Amino acid sequence: MVHADATSFPPNLSKPQAYQQLLDQVEGLCLDQRNWVCNLSNTSSLLWHLYHSLPSPASDVNWAGFYVYDHTSPPAKPRLILGPFQGKVACQTIAFGRGVCGTAAATQTTQLVPDVEKFPGHIACDSASKSEIVVPIIVEGKGVVAIIDIDCTVENGFDQVDKEYLEKLADFLAKSSDWP
Ligand code: SME
Repeated sequence: MVHADATSFPPNLSKPQAYQQLLDQVEGLCLDQRNWVCNLSNTSSLLWHLYHSLPSPASDVNWAGFYVYDHTSPPAKPRLILGPFQGKVACQTIAFGRGVCGTAAATQTTQLVPDVEKFPGHIACDSASKSEIVVPIIVEGKGVVAIIDIDCTVENGFDQVDKEYLEKLADFLAKSSDWP
């Protein structure tokens, strides 16, 4: 199979089936490759194509990607820096504790936000985004190395299925890539 074929999600897959296909493909792509830039880049492509193969609200996803730990930030003031993604140009750095991404990083917990207007301190990189899910990628001994961030142009874009599979993806990426 040529690599681009991995981005084909057959129509009519259920969301769990599509996520399972993504997990299998990410596992295949990471078999002989542990570079985090390479692995997150291909994963952001797969995420984008997965959402756009599904009905609304998944097809209303307008940003899918990663922020990673910024090693140039002072240890007392850690921040995230933009990583591989699909979608429009986004905020470059986010302090731990700020916005949805910074909250997920600081608390090491998934943030499922049905309405971003109601999330105190939400950072509007794109005013079109109405709901969001952010999942931390945690490596034992290192803490949060990155976060997965998915945005949607409608409210209630994400549910427990997204949370369950994106957390599985985060666990897999934590183990399968070498992190700075
Ligand atoms: N909305 C996010 C910022 C990142 S962008 O959505 C790509 C937040 O509040 O952390």
